[in-house]
Amino acid sequence: MKHIHPTNIYLTREDKENYLKQNAKVIWITGLSGSGKSTLASGLEKKLAEHGYFTQVLDGDNIRTGINNNLGFTAEDRTENIRRIAEVNKLFLNCGIITINAFISPTNDIRHMAQEIIGKDDFIEIFVDAPVEVCIERDPKGLYKKALSGEIKNFTGISAPFDRPDNADITINTAELSIEEGVEKAFEFILNQVKKA
Ligand code: ADX
Repeated sequence: MKHIHPTNIYLTREDKENYLKQNAKVIWITGLSGSGKSTLASGLEKKLAEHGYFTQVLDGDNIRTGINNNLGFTAEDRTENIRRIAEVNKLFLNCGIITINAFISPTNDIRHMAQEIIGKDDFIEIFVDAPVEVCIERDPKGLYKKALSGEIKNFTGISAPFDRPDNADITINTAELSIEEGVEKAFEFILNQVKKA
């Protein structure tokens, strides 16, 4: 890029990981609206904190109301949403922080883009799997009702696509597991990777 001159005067990621006594990672939770992504994110954050790990959750509440408040739900806007989020994740990685993301990120292309920006080695993908019928039944925000009546257009799982992930490291089926079981399964998978040797 023109007239941008990166300098190299900062503490390194490794310095910060040593300070925090953890390996930084990106935990990327994908799934339908109402599948349980935010519930898993908050349970994981709590569990990691109990074991001394320092995290940041990113979700619609802190991203779509702020940095991405100019984006909607067209395919282009969803791609830009996830591109910016992936760039923010890179900054957190350099801070040595474990970032837990809870975004629908509906297509394999979008998730591959995120993985490419962040880097394969730091990217842990979790699919929160619940059948769309179960999400409709739960409808915690009343949005499926509006999507089914046509009041909301382009709604994921109803009138916009959701690809089942082809690249997930683990799948948590929230229609079959309790919240505690789901958090435990994800935590066990993650622990080895965030633990400093
Ligand atoms: S993503 O597709 O771009 O990854 P993101 O996770 O940021 O989506 O936002 C999804 C949340 O926005 C949903 O949980 C829901 O609360 C809200 N939302 C509003 N309109 C839509 C829509 N058309 N499709 C999906 N989610 C929507």
